[in-house]
Amino acid sequence: MLEEKVIERTTLLMRAKRTWEATFDALVDPITIVDDQLNIVRTNVALATTSGVDIRTVSGRHCYDAFLGRSTPCEACPAQTTFKSGEHAEAEVSTHDGEKTFRVWSHPMITNDTEDAGMRQVVCHYKDITEEKDLQAQLLQSEKMAAVGTLAGGVAHEINNPIGAIMAFSQLLMQDAAEGTTLHDFLREIEDSAKRCKKIVASLLNFSRPSRGERRPVDLSKVVEQSLFLLRTQFRRAPVETNAQFHNEIPLVLGDANQLQQVVMNLIANAWQALEDVGGGTIDISAKVSDGEWVDLVVSDTGPGIPERHLDKVFDPFFTTKPEGKGTGLGLSISYGIITDHGGTIEVDSRAGMGTTFTVRLPWPKSQEEEV
Ligand SMILES: Nc1ncnc2c1ncn2[C@@H]1O[C@H](COP(=O)(O)OP(=O)(O)OP(=O)(O)O)[C@@H](O)[C@H]1O
Ligand SMILES: [Mg+2]
Repeated sequence: MLEEKVIERTTLLMRAKRTWEATFDALVDPITIVDDQLNIVRTNVALATTSGVDIRTVSGRHCYDAFLGRSTPCEACPAQTTFKSGEHAEAEVSTHDGEKTFRVWSHPMITNDTEDAGMRQVVCHYKDITEEKDLQAQLLQSEKMAAVGTLAGGVAHEINNPIGAIMAFSQLLMQDAAEGTTLHDFLREIEDSAKRCKKIVASLLNFSRPSRGERRPVDLSKVVEQSLFLLRTQFRRAPVETNAQFHNEIPLVLGDANQLQQVVMNLIANAWQALEDVGGGTIDISAKVSDGEWVDLVVSDTGPGIPERHLDKVFDPFFTTKPEGKGTGLGLSISYGIITDHGGTIEVDSRAGMGTTFTVRLPWPKSQEEEV
């Protein structure tokens, strides 16, 4: 009789355990139970599918290692906060390479076992918010660009006339000053500086109102070829190897060839300048059709890379790490404006010491035709 009861209870317990396991495994968000050393006690299938680790190897490993590939606990670890306070906590954590971001909620788990009295474990619930963060960043960037564009456009417009006057009057005075005199040299200096201002103002206007040109079919391989031709005359010093690979199937894109050339020249010039700083290297330029909807133009270099703290600033107007007189910090912000105006995107992927890759993504006209 007693034996039967034990069997019955055991079956019920087993069933309850399986129900709980199935419940956890049915959830699409990773869940872990960790102890106060941050070792994983239990987890669900979603943790393995999200992080790509083998679920059989997870138990006993640190949550930050098994799930996020980190060698140390996350700076904002909510589980540690919960262990200290006994309260729920929430934080954002990232994988070791910063590729993915999760929001984590940690909940105190009170067990009533006599041995295990009090809180020794915490339940962590993770939600992948990488895409949400990317969208937020993009929105912020485009709002920032629009605001700066309007301001820059207004200022540039106002500055144009006085610069014109400075140039005209210095040229007039130069006619009266004999060549070779100090006065003539000073006037030449004024004229050169005014010309430089004019160029910057033109770039600013270009940035605030890039949508001037007509859209025509553009052959990207020709744009790259011409850009390389023009840049080779400017950059001679460092031993830089350029590989431009284009397959025949790369279709024409619809755009303004001059503006697209400006973008390509900016990207190659940046790569070239970066390589000069490290005594040379390689620039690879390639194009491919991506997802059947886009044409991706990729410019990558083996240069010093961009430190993480600069990555979200490189498209900002006037952000430059170059010495005065060498860079205005407008190249990438203008490129951003042009590409956005073409209905495309421009993205950077770089790490200090690992080179830099810029990807320009333009709509493939074919997919647009089909939509119409
Ligand atoms: N390929 C690259 N490698 C390393 N750093 C880069 C690369 N491309 C851009 N950067 C960084 O981004 C900054 C901004 O680039 P951007 O082209 O907007 O301005 P700039 O090159 O400094 O000046 P300008 O283009 O106006 O002459 C650069 O100063 C540099 O720090
Ligand atoms: Mg530049």
